[in-house]
Amino acid sequence: MTYSRIVGTGRHLPERIMTNADLEKIVETSDEWIRTRTGVERRHVAGEDDTTSDLCVAAAKKAMAAAQVSVEDIDLIVIGTTTPDLIFPNIATLVQEKMGIHGCPAFSIEAACTGFIYALTTADKFITTGTSKCALVIGAEVITKLVDWSDRTTCVLFGDGAGAVILQPAEEQGIISCHLGADGQYRDLLYYPVGAGSQLEKAGIVEEAKILMKGNEVFKVAVKTLGGVATEALEANGISKDELDWLIPHQANLRIIQATAKRLGMPLEKVILTVQDHGNTSAASVPMALDVGVRDGRIKRGQLLLLEAFGGGFTWGAVLLRY
Ligand code: ACO
Repeated sequence: MTYSRIVGTGRHLPERIMTNADLEKIVETSDEWIRTRTGVERRHVAGEDDTTSDLCVAAAKKAMAAAQVSVEDIDLIVIGTTTPDLIFPNIATLVQEKMGIHGCPAFSIEAACTGFIYALTTADKFITTGTSKCALVIGAEVITKLVDWSDRTTCVLFGDGAGAVILQPAEEQGIISCHLGADGQYRDLLYYPVGAGSQLEKAGIVEEAKILMKGNEVFKVAVKTLGGVATEALEANGISKDELDWLIPHQANLRIIQATAKRLGMPLEKVILTVQDHGNTSAASVPMALDVGVRDGRIKRGQLLLLEAFGGGFTWGAVLLRY
């Protein structure tokens, strides 16, 4: 049996760091409120000229160096993002061009914060069916560009960044199983009211558009759904919670992560946490957390990892893998 296996990881964060103290100067909030309600202490914010594709390229180069592959080796590019540079061409082709890669399929997947999990799942199918031998998979976002900096209920939550992995075929175990889900009935709990085509005109509020979120309700569904998809991934493979070495969750809110870890019976010492430094970077959060754990030496070859995410839609997903 052929598995797909992560052979290199990388991340890139914009230079500018915004602390909770910085936010105290912009909106009526406090470091104490933000930390106790969300766990966020600081976040990186893209500059005016930073594009999502720039962040992607920087993260991709680090992942390729770690995997010791060159641009000639890449035969598939899949990017999860909600903030592509343009409506078209799709962002993966922009990254392809910036990196000097030619000819391979390149496309993006839009699934809000679950974008990377959807992208990884898709690339896994290309590898295990023999269609791809070396896939570049990225989760990236400049979500702060959608943020209304006068809305304290959302502006304190988000940050920008990109995380990348290189996926190759292997005989030994890599990705064991992928579990995706979505339910559009929840669209009104978390959305951005402006998009391409017909919605643009209908909304009629391009200038004032901002992220709309019923935080409390998102919180409850997120905890329940993440617990459910994690259990689904373990049960599908007859693996018990105790066998997991690391949980690498979407970094939306420390309290959501704590609640999910508790449902899984996992101590926080076995959870990779970046929410304090990165905030909620949407599709970038899981691959960046993975890269943090790999590069600081906590995540080791052969260990069992559970990656999971939840986002607007709602969409959700989990990937169980042996690193
Ligand atoms: N600073 C100070 N006070 C604030 C702030 C702030 N930044 N934001 C809200 N408040 C106030 C509210 O106005 C409210 O005041 P009131 O009681 O006088 O009305 C009070 O704090 C409590 O507000 P709640 O919304 O009930 O606070 P809650 O404990 O639910 O925390 C939060 C809010 C952090 C947004 C939480 O609900 C949450 O994290 N939800 C999940 C959101 C999430 O994960 N979103 C991303 C999903 S993934 C994606 O696709 C982007």
